[in-house]
This record gives sequence, structure tokens and C-alpha cells, in this order.
Amino acid sequence: MKIRAFLFDLDGVIVDTAVFHYKAWRKLCNTLGFDIDEEFNETLKGISRMDSLEAILKHGKVILSQEEKEKYAKIKNDWYLELVNKMTENDILPGVKNFLEESRALGIKIALGSASKNASLILEKTGILPLFDKLVDGNHVNKSKPDPEVFLKGAQALDVENEECIVFEDAFAGVQAAKAANMFAVGIGKKEVLCNADFVIAGLHELSPNDILMRLN
Ligand code: BG6
Ligand code: MG
Repeated sequence: MKIRAFLFDLDGVIVDTAVFHYKAWRKLCNTLGFDIDEEFNETLKGISRMDSLEAILKHGKVILSQEEKEKYAKIKNDWYLELVNKMTENDILPGVKNFLEESRALGIKIALGSASKNASLILEKTGILPLFDKLVDGNHVNKSKPDPEVFLKGAQALDVENEECIVFEDAFAGVQAAKAANMFAVGIGKKEVLCNADFVIAGLHELSPNDILMRLN
């Protein structure tokens, strides 16, 4: 089937905010008296704020009331936003802007498919909001990746079939979501981590949209 749309995850694909999430979660864990490492952090990528907090508390064997959980999720988000608010166009990952512009020039529709509730703020801060036809983010979905909801809604918003989409993802759970939606999945990151992707590149600077389309034929 002809590819008509690209669906991009945000954190770790378009911008390097995956590092900001890690820093803010780590600070919270330290406040609660334990620590997390990069390997554990991999399991948090792509999943919602509250699901991440649940996983973290389980990892640290900390039990909190619902009210406390909401308080700590807000504290983490405030720390995260301190970093986000300093973002500029320079924080867009290498090759991303070109890749988006070239995709548009090829007539490919573009949507964001992110679990983040801060997505539109980040796209505004970095100046790339106009390059997206549609945004589907954490404010529009009920289920976190690996559930395919975010990508199914992305395809729907762009008025294309699921099989006409390619998803770009840096998270194992995100690739699972793309595959569950019957979409082609390009992993952004390391092959060892993203072993469920159709193929893996280090970043969008590595290939052009045309290169990606040619790989499918
Ligand atoms: C995903 C990140 O994109 O968004 C997760 O990979 C994060 O790490 C999730 O928890 C939710 O983000 P936010 O900005 O709504 O806290
Ligand atoms: Mg991501």
C-alpha cells in the first residue's frame, strides 16, 4: 500500500526531552529516597505521566495515596516544565526540521502521536508547530502506549488508512503501539532496545523521507 502519512512520536524523536523526563523523574525518586538508572528509564519511555509514576513507585516499593500521587506527579511536571520553558529551535533533534519539510514537499501528511500532555507547548517553543497537520497527544487519548489508540487517532485525524502510515518512535512501548495499529515502525535509537521495529536508525538526520519510502519497496 502507498504510504500517505508519517506519525511522529515527540519525546526522543523530534526533541531531546526524553532526557528532561529522566532528570525530573530521577529528582523525584531521590526525594522519595531511592534511585533509578537508565535501564529502568527505558521502560518509562512512551508511557503516560501517571503510568510512569505508578511504575516508579512500584520500583522503589513506595506506597502513596491517590492525593499524594497527584501531588508528586505535579511536582515532577513542574521540574520538567522548568527545562521545557528554556527550549528553543536549537533543541530540535538533528535533521528533524529538514525531514519534516521534505516530507511535506512530497505530499505526505504529518501528525504527532505522543503520550505527552505538554506536546503543543514544546512544539510552540521550538517553532515547529506549523509543520504538523494534526496533533494527537496525551490530552486526546484514554490509553497509554503500547495501546495503539494514539496512532489510530492520528490516522483518523489525517483521514488515511492505518496501513498507509509510518510511525517514528524511540520507545519500545511506542513501537508496540505502532505494530498493534498495523503500521510500519521506524525505530529511532538503538537496535538492541528497539528490536520490535521494522528497522532502526540513530536519528532522522540519517535518512531522507525518500530513502525511507524506498526501503519499503
Ligand atoms: C512520552 C514520554 O512521550 O510522554 C514519557 O516518552 C512521558 O516519558 C509521557 O511520561 C507523558 O508526558 P507528559 O509531558 O504529559 O508528562
Ligand atoms: Mg518518545
